[in-house]
Amino acid sequence: MSDIKKDFPILQNNKGIVYLDSTATAQKPSYVIDWIKKFLENDYSNIHRWAYSIAERSEDLYVKSKKKMAEFINAENWREIIYSHNSTYASNLLIWSLRRSWIFKRWDKVLLTIVEHHANIVPWLILKEEIWIEVDYIKVKEDFSLDFEDLEKKFDEKVRTLSITHVSNVTWEIFDVEKIWKIINEKTEIFRNSNENYKKPIFIVDGSQSVPSFKVDVQKIGCDAMFTTGHKFMANSGIGVLWGKQDLLDKLEPVFSWGGAIASVAKSCFKPAGLPDKFEPGTPNMTGAVSLLRALEYIENIWGYEKIQEIKKELENYALEKFAKYDKIKLIGSTNSANRVWVFSFTVDWIHSHDIADYLADYNICIRAWQHCAEPFMWELWINHSCRASLYIYNTKEDIDKLFEALEGAMEELG
Ligand SMILES: Cc1ncc(COP(=O)(O)O)c(C=O)c1O
Repeated sequence: MSDIKKDFPILQNNKGIVYLDSTATAQKPSYVIDWIKKFLENDYSNIHRWAYSIAERSEDLYVKSKKKMAEFINAENWREIIYSHNSTYASNLLIWSLRRSWIFKRWDKVLLTIVEHHANIVPWLILKEEIWIEVDYIKVKEDFSLDFEDLEKKFDEKVRTLSITHVSNVTWEIFDVEKIWKIINEKTEIFRNSNENYKKPIFIVDGSQSVPSFKVDVQKIGCDAMFTTGHKFMANSGIGVLWGKQDLLDKLEPVFSWGGAIASVAKSCFKPAGLPDKFEPGTPNMTGAVSLLRALEYIENIWGYEKIQEIKKELENYALEKFAKYDKIKLIGSTNSANRVWVFSFTVDWIHSHDIADYLADYNICIRAWQHCAEPFMWELWINHSCRASLYIYNTKEDIDKLFEALEGAMEELG
């Protein structure tokens, strides 16, 4: 058993479990679990309204968590870090705050990619229904990379926002988001030549599947905002992150506003608080914030993203070699490990993905099946649904062997 596996009690307490669903949610190391317990036993109290010592300690840990998160994604300032419940809430919070701040007018265009998760589609579609914006999708090429020609073609003066996933949660392709930022700058220069009032589009990145796997540097990307979700990198569920450049966040009117998000309230009006509190109404998830802090510390303790990449390289290549051996197991995504993360969406012969997942469950192998909250893309592929096995730092080659052994059995018995 790998040393890292020993850090995860759930993998010890469920004998023989092969957990290959970390991309849905990652398991938690003792380091995180123990610190959650210690926090609840020693420091837990409500923040923002404190005079006593445990409340002060809770506040300190909350801010420390944000500082650590800011350091991890290279945000300029920890006040640019807003905590929400998960990526879905974070994207909704941002999109609805943009709407409330009159960033969009009728027929403005929002460019997404065809592989987006529903969390980055549905809020835009609701805006489309509400204020008649246009939503368009950039295609991916046959090798699953982003089709930059299509992006150039669809990028006209009406584009007000590009909201793009960093990593597809179906193909697991890493998109070149820095190149997108370059194109946004080039287009802005061109459009400003003919229209001096042209406003540079806002660039949002969905980092839900990138932050768990590799170093994401928001300043290097150049984007205006990014959201991600703590439970996928070993924090407890219920804590999501919205990061935005301070000048964008300062401009935005928060869509929800009460509790700590308010500076003052009179009978007929109110004044929102400053950053980041104005985006965090009500009592925040203090325990979640502490769990996020400890998850990031845990990543540092195992030698950070370098170690994650090292494990990734070894396991991913091993898994890709296995996939290549079976004609009937078809990978949805590229086999170029430089451009992908360590998750595999696949179909097995003509067997339904639910039947495969059920069969594997009998062998204590945990995978996911169906549409992965990316229905438009699944329809585009004409496959409708697939299986998905994801690796993370606690997986081993033995886990991969067990997966393929069971898949062989499934093909024999169900095929
Ligand atoms: C690319 C992507 N975006 C957004 C989400 C939504 O994350 P959450 O369910 O934590 O809100 C997911 C979850 O799988 C995802 O893969």
